Amino acid sequence: MPESRCLQGIWSSPWIFIFAASGSAVGLGNIWKFPYVLGQNGGGAFLLVYCLCLLLVGLPVLMAEVALGRTVRSNPIDTVNDLSERHIVHSAWVIVPWLAGLSGFLVLAFYSVIAGWSLAYLERAISGDFMGISSSRASDMFTSLLATPAEMLLWHSVFMVLVIVTVGQSVTRGLSAVVKVLLPTLVISLGLMALYSVSVGDMPATLQFMFQWAWQDITFDVILAAVGMALFSLSVGMGAMFAYGAYINKRMSIARACSIVVGVDLLVALLAGLVIFPLVFAFQIDVEAGPSLTFVSLPIIFGNLIGGQFFASVFFLLLVVAALTSAISMLELFVAWLHEKFYIARFKAACLMGILAWFVGVAVLLSFNQWDTGVVFGLNFFELLDSITSLILLPIGAILLSVLVAWFIPHSMLQNEMITKRKSHFDLWYKVLKYISIPAMLVITFVGWIGV
Ligand code: PFF
Repeated sequence: MPESRCLQGIWSSPWIFIFAASGSAVGLGNIWKFPYVLGQNGGGAFLLVYCLCLLLVGLPVLMAEVALGRTVRSNPIDTVNDLSERHIVHSAWVIVPWLAGLSGFLVLAFYSVIAGWSLAYLERAISGDFMGISSSRASDMFTSLLATPAEMLLWHSVFMVLVIVTVGQSVTRGLSAVVKVLLPTLVISLGLMALYSVSVGDMPATLQFMFQWAWQDITFDVILAAVGMALFSLSVGMGAMFAYGAYINKRMSIARACSIVVGVDLLVALLAGLVIFPLVFAFQIDVEAGPSLTFVSLPIIFGNLIGGQFFASVFFLLLVVAALTSAISMLELFVAWLHEKFYIARFKAACLMGILAWFVGVAVLLSFNQWDTGVVFGLNFFELLDSITSLILLPIGAILLSVLVAWFIPHSMLQNEMITKRKSHFDLWYKVLKYISIPAMLVITFVGWIGV
């Protein structure tokens, strides 16, 4: 293997990859985005379609992405270049990792702003600002944060510095140790919060909203939103898992590892829903409130809980760390590439990409106040970036990547990758990817775009 393709490290056990990949998957997408997208798309019908998307699209594509990363054990751009130099695929396929890297970069720009809100809320939690808070005060608190660009800028900058410093190190170092503690603590905290929320909130309305559905609720908009959410939540289509796949140990079953990641991701999203919706219904918060939903309902829980100041501080700290373990995987593709191809130190490469993303983030945070005007189709800059990434770039990235794996990478090469230990499971995955995931993504994305 040429020197430029040498890796920073290999995950020393399968569990380390599982923790790191779950760290990338579990983040603001589960706790902030999933509840509000569920709220905007009618609840139960969306959840049902979302679960199907995770199983039939998310999981097979995640496995394809990780397997591709492991074939050459290099950063995604060099992986595809290497495959084309060996005449395995056409050089035009290099568009796939570039597109994936671009999506990750654009997502990071707005992700950092939202993670900045979590930091702002961490500061409020430590100061005890949630104590005894009413629902109208909670909603005023969020509105006033959005109206203060200087504060958002501060926290967006703090978060981006954290991302740069962390990505500047080798990713395999330290990351899994953090996630190993973070994930169980996050699941336990959300579980306890869900119990509290269910006991004080409106459980019947929540159950009805989240778990009941009717055929007529399953519209194309719902399906498109579910596919976009599944890809975003599993961090696929942006090169993050592709980059992590390069660090996986050869003996490990990709199917097993990826199934665990999907399970953990769904569990955290469901728990977040069970925390938020009982309060949303009890306090008559608008379920379709959008991005503010989580940030208005969580303070109400903590504000009325004994020891709420402490629990709120711990929770928002966990949320920030979860956001950080996701954000670092968004930059990994370009940082690894700049480092391996041009020998630029990881820290310098992280600074370069992080600062560029920071600038785009500034435009995002202004779109919540000074610049809250429609840029295209009446969407402000944040909504535009969110829609472009979730509904266009992510599905296209995932489709191209899956087509590359399913139709162009030789079958024998994939089989050697130990995607699963059993041949029958490998065949099942291959068929599902080829004949279900790819056609489903194609139809849903294109029909969704033309707005049928
Ligand atoms: N999966 C992350 C979340 O749900 O918060 C978001 C994410 C991380 C998207 C990494 C894309 C990515 F490359």
